[in-house]
Amino acid sequence: MQDGGSLGIRLAELRIAIAGDLHGQWDRSDEQLLEQLAPDALLVVGDLSDGQPQIPARLAKLQLPMACILGNHDAGRDASGRTLQRQLDALADRHCGWNLRELHPPGVAVVGARPASAGGGFHLNKAALAVFGPLTLQQSADRITEAALRADPALPLILLAHCGPSGLGSAAADPCGRDWKQPACDWGDQDLALAIDQIRRHRPLPLVVFGHMHHRLKRGQGERLSHCVDRAGTAYLNTAFVPRHSSDEQGRPLRHFSWVEWRDGAIIELSHRWYDPDGSLRYRHTLMRADALQPC
Ligand SMILES: [Fe+2]
Repeated sequence: MQDGGSLGIRLAELRIAIAGDLHGQWDRSDEQLLEQLAPDALLVVGDLSDGQPQIPARLAKLQLPMACILGNHDAGRDASGRTLQRQLDALADRHCGWNLRELHPPGVAVVGARPASAGGGFHLNKAALAVFGPLTLQQSADRITEAALRADPALPLILLAHCGPSGLGSAAADPCGRDWKQPACDWGDQDLALAIDQIRRHRPLPLVVFGHMHHRLKRGQGERLSHCVDRAGTAYLNTAFVPRHSSDEQGRPLRHFSWVEWRDGAIIELSHRWYDPDGSLRYRHTLMRADALQPC
């Protein structure tokens, strides 16, 4: 255990579950599973559905500490922004786009990136423009940065985005690589990459979590690399295993969560996990352990 600074926060073991792109797959079985697993917090990276109100309403009723960011699918096909706004209203302060959400307990600072992103550098779709108004890449990066710099420096900081940052590679299988159209290219968000750069001039940034780019690549190109660690020590995790409700070869149902464990403010494990709805851990793909960091 270690003291967490001016607020006297106690940092010790921290277990965070992360739900990748839901695309409609969130129901009572997920809620019961979370009750069993009892993580310290839940993060949700967006694309809950295609604008339907049910999942935001369910997430808003969860009792555990959580933070969420909406994705491009959450705008539905409604360019007016009303569909997007309804979900923002339902999630209220659980949604942390361009904002800071400190979770006490367990003691972690979550800052949201640009909501409703579809990746591709910097592009605001019509729904996002209607809800958030026009802004430049630099303004978006500055909003993310300012939110991060408001966070208690004693807390570990997580950036929560729908699409990950640019700069993680331009091959189809890279964490934000474009796989559905040739040529493959870096489809990450440039404002997020700039924000990461700006934030790290002031404080450490241990983890960036996102989704959007699904794990199974189009056109039979295999599977996506879902994590890396850069030379500054920031870990990146693409949590979009879609569909997250699946079954194994024996036909047993599986529920996917990404999972991050911390000790004394440092990440000790990143993994993808597939659980039986009764809470049994069926499969675990360990991406990173504290003793085996590999720069990307
Ligand atoms: Fe998406």
